[in-house]
Amino acid sequence: MSSNITANWSYPTAFKLGRGRIKELADACKSLGMNKPLLITDRGLASMAITKTALDILEDAGLGRAIFADVDPNPNDKNLDAGVKAFKDGGHDGVVAFGGGSGLDLGKCVAFMAGQTRPVWDFEDIGDWWTRAGVEGIAPIVAVPTTAGTGSEVGRASVITNSETHVKKIIFHPKFLPGVVIADPELTVGMPKIITAGTGMDAFAHCLEAYSSPFYHPMSAGIALEGMRLVKEFLPRAYKEGTDLEARANMMAAAAMGAVAFQKGLGAVHSVSHPVGAIYDTHHGMTNGVMLPYVLVFNRPAIEERMAYLARVLDLPGVGFDALLDWLLSFRKALYIPHTLGEIGVQEKDVDTLAEKALRDPSTSGNPRPMTVDEFRVLIRAAICGDLAVKG
Ligand SMILES: NC(=O)c1ccc[n+]([C@@H]2O[C@H](COP(=O)([O-])OP(=O)(O)OC[C@H]3O[C@@H](n4cnc5c(N)ncnc54)[C@H](O)[C@@H]3O)[C@@H](O)[C@H]2O)c1
Ligand SMILES: [Fe+2]
Repeated sequence: MSSNITANWSYPTAFKLGRGRIKELADACKSLGMNKPLLITDRGLASMAITKTALDILEDAGLGRAIFADVDPNPNDKNLDAGVKAFKDGGHDGVVAFGGGSGLDLGKCVAFMAGQTRPVWDFEDIGDWWTRAGVEGIAPIVAVPTTAGTGSEVGRASVITNSETHVKKIIFHPKFLPGVVIADPELTVGMPKIITAGTGMDAFAHCLEAYSSPFYHPMSAGIALEGMRLVKEFLPRAYKEGTDLEARANMMAAAAMGAVAFQKGLGAVHSVSHPVGAIYDTHHGMTNGVMLPYVLVFNRPAIEERMAYLARVLDLPGVGFDALLDWLLSFRKALYIPHTLGEIGVQEKDVDTLAEKALRDPSTSGNPRPMTVDEFRVLIRAAICGDLAVKG
């Protein structure tokens, strides 16, 4: 299905949504003062036609066709060091962060680290650590999402895995926010079904966790509710028919909304998903999709009323928390999201390590129910074996 959706937003940054708008890539780079951008993406995307097209557009405009693609899924500090070296050696003056969350996060972080002298871990998202950064040398960023889930294209952080400790760290600075986003739904058409489903669940998890967090942020809460409504309506369509551009465009909007919403906080879905991704290299959004119902049940006493309201917003049959849980279980089943952490390889022997890492994850502070390490153990065990009766 074709789509006439075209939009130019300036919130939270310049956001150009619409089919074919990748053609505006070179102009976007020039608008930020770039003459020699480095396109950063992951290895898989490097050889795909959409990447070649983007490089052609840059080259035709006299901006060269430099690419760095030594980027793992769940990118790490080694990818980062190599990317900063490529940026400096090539004499680049800006970054085109191109890809799913992995390419976007690494690209944004390279642009930031190009201007720093301290190690990246000094800029973890803790207190005012971001004020340690020198802002002078930070390179401008154009973001081009090719998945619809992480919302990294409108985010002020990158998730980088420490390759020694296998801990995912959130690196934060306001200047991570790209100057221009080009969200062209045609770029997302080639996503494998499993990635469409997983990334869509990431967008949903961002909205749900932000909406559920106890922090006062009504702007984000409103955006989260509409983001979830869009995912409910359009993710099944995008999954079923990958070329449905109306569904793809709406999923790109929902992904961006999730990332704007989670300024209100995340929660235990992400607290567990981060160490699981870092240790087992599972797909981030897919892992969130697995975790969602277990965390909902666990948090139930703290979110009962809010979930009843969400069930009304989503126009679900039935009422209250149970209507929401039943819908979520069938929604995720229709997208072939595995039901248990066991099915994606998580082992009982790692429960203690995972629980300790989950407790220390910054997302934990946004969980509506305060968590202890013992509670994380119970939650993770329940998710490994598929026990939805565990309430902690
Ligand atoms: N910065 C943030 O706020 C934030 C939020 C959530 C997640 N993340 C991070 O994002 C990463 C996950 O990102 P993701 O879910 O978008 O997946 P991804 O970027 O890891 O991509 C997954 C796979 O899909 C392929 N792919 C991407 N776009 C494609 C396309 N259009 N056609 C065909 N194949 C395509 C990639 O090559 C890769 O093999 C994780 O590292 C996660 O930690 C960051
Ligand atoms: Fe996420």
